[in-house]
Amino acid sequence: MGSSELDEFVERVNERTDIYSVVSRYVTLNQKSGRYWGRCPFHNEKTASFTVSPDKGFFYCFGCGAGGNAFKFLSLIENISYFEAIKLQAQRLGIDLPARKFSPEEERRRREEKALLKVNELACDFYHDGLTKEARGSEGRKYLAARGITAETIETFKLGFAPEEWDKLLSHLTRQGYSPQQLESAGLVAKRKTAAGFYDRFRGRVMIPIADVFGHVVGFGGRVLHSDDDSTPKYLNTPETALFNKGRLLFGLDKSNREINKAGVAIVVEGYMDAISLFSAGVRNVVATLGTAFTADHAKLILRYAKKIIFCYDSDEAGQRATIRALPIVQAEGAQVFVVKVPDGKDPDEFIRKHGKTAFDELIKHAQTLIDYRMKYVLAHADLSTIEGKVRALQEILPVVAKIEKTVTRNEYSKRIAAALTLDENLVGQEWEKFSRVARQAQPEKKSSAVQRQRLPAVKDTLVRQAGESILRMTWYDNEMLDYVLTAVPREIFTPVHQEIIDWFKTCAAQNIPVNQMNAAKDLSEAANAELSRILINGSDDPRSTELDLFNDAIKVMKLTVLKKKYNEVLAQTEKYIPDDRAAYVEAVQQLFKIKADIDELKGNH
Ligand code: UTP
Ligand code: MN
Repeated sequence: MGSSELDEFVERVNERTDIYSVVSRYVTLNQKSGRYWGRCPFHNEKTASFTVSPDKGFFYCFGCGAGGNAFKFLSLIENISYFEAIKLQAQRLGIDLPARKFSPEEERRRREEKALLKVNELACDFYHDGLTKEARGSEGRKYLAARGITAETIETFKLGFAPEEWDKLLSHLTRQGYSPQQLESAGLVAKRKTAAGFYDRFRGRVMIPIADVFGHVVGFGGRVLHSDDDSTPKYLNTPETALFNKGRLLFGLDKSNREINKAGVAIVVEGYMDAISLFSAGVRNVVATLGTAFTADHAKLILRYAKKIIFCYDSDEAGQRATIRALPIVQAEGAQVFVVKVPDGKDPDEFIRKHGKTAFDELIKHAQTLIDYRMKYVLAHADLSTIEGKVRALQEILPVVAKIEKTVTRNEYSKRIAAALTLDENLVGQEWEKFSRVARQAQPEKKSSAVQRQRLPAVKDTLVRQAGESILRMTWYDNEMLDYVLTAVPREIFTPVHQEIIDWFKTCAAQNIPVNQMNAAKDLSEAANAELSRILINGSDDPRSTELDLFNDAIKVMKLTVLKKKYNEVLAQTEKYIPDDRAAYVEAVQQLFKIKADIDELKGNH
């Protein structure tokens, strides 16, 4: 579809969208003084600080700072992109999306992808029926029953069974019109080595479908029935295909994302069976990696739903090593990271089957912080019999401890390290000094502040910010004010986010773009949009009549801020001229008088 067609579509959806009805689907709203209030769905709260203003078309939460228009709300609550939110709303309103035109190349790729998805879905059904309906599935049923997997869980995860034969799936799907090449590109069959033709990749295995976040099956993990069978890997997985990428997929996320969002935390386990077992025991905020290292993409995927990630890997050496490797990656992505080490039993699956959900919840409640866990790990792997071993351990821990911001906490850890390594506290202190000196060098030096005598107290930041808000609010409703604002107040006085909004006003004026919530949502950053929602929701409906005084005061505050800054700058200069440059000194002092007079005048007619 052309871009004008798209604009028209978006325009039509926007016109018919009322933010109150959009939000009230998810949040109970009560009316109070011209606005609606409710409990914020984006953070945990007891009192209502989430507000919606239907007239303005914005929502804003005074608790967590989330804000924006109706589509922004939808995109946040449904974890979809902004444009997907518009499409979703269109669907709810019964507005058709204009048909999109693709290039032939795109067309081909889309067709192939669709076919690949379809093939996976059909294979999933085939394996599932093979487990639940066919006589030859009894082996698989017995295996799962022995592991405590119920019929309900088999349905939830659509578990299946691949028959112990060479071409059952191949012939089933080719009969439905799919070519062996298509099945091969889906990873379901492989080329025979000695003769022409293909054979089923998965045979005699319990089949675990792996889906993307939307629940589309994109691959499988197949488990052998007998763990003592060393001739073949325990799990056979779909090879890399156009859809199946282990570094970007998390098993179970399609089922757990809502729970993860609600709980604010995701539990990451190593094995398919761990995830299945926890989920069916009622621990529903769980995902598993697919037998690969945890990647930054995995972290990003989870962070769409929650900020907190708890690693609960197998308690054996391999599992612990994998945990240690994952931690910095996840931390770098900005997640809060915790670790649970499963006691008594190799993995979470065994633990929860042995001890039940309550015991597992208890483990999660007492998850270790990343620092505690890393400290214990280093200590457990250190050679404490020699002084060199101890110092090496120390050097490994210090960078971790250095990241702790609070001095008290940091000192506490230093003490603990000294005790644990049975090292003299002084030695730890020395090593610490050495390390932090290096760390400090990486940071720019602070300037020594100039003599502060006689400086004018700066206008409080909060006051400046409020003034900025008032100015932006007025300018939003009365765009003609913009020129006046720009000449009266230098742009730099506004906060960076306010500057972004001011700049956008300028662009709108220059390019004749209407200043409204749709264009704001399109052009402004997320932070600026949230700020704008807050500013508009905070004010009266027509500030042109009610807020003119407020606006004028705001302009004054800004001017005052500029003058006081200037005054203090010049003052700092004068000190430099003493005693050598008398002429410059006198000139600077005269300038100070002039600025002071301007300030007094501004205050006088205040
Ligand atoms: P585990 O052996 O811990 O998996 O391997 P699990 O799910 O707990 O297995 P069982 O059924 O209870 O014994 C962790 C993950 O590593 C991958 C799989 O994704 C598995 O879930 N893996 C393991 C493979 O891909 N191939 C293998 O041969 C083994
Ligand atoms: Mn296991």
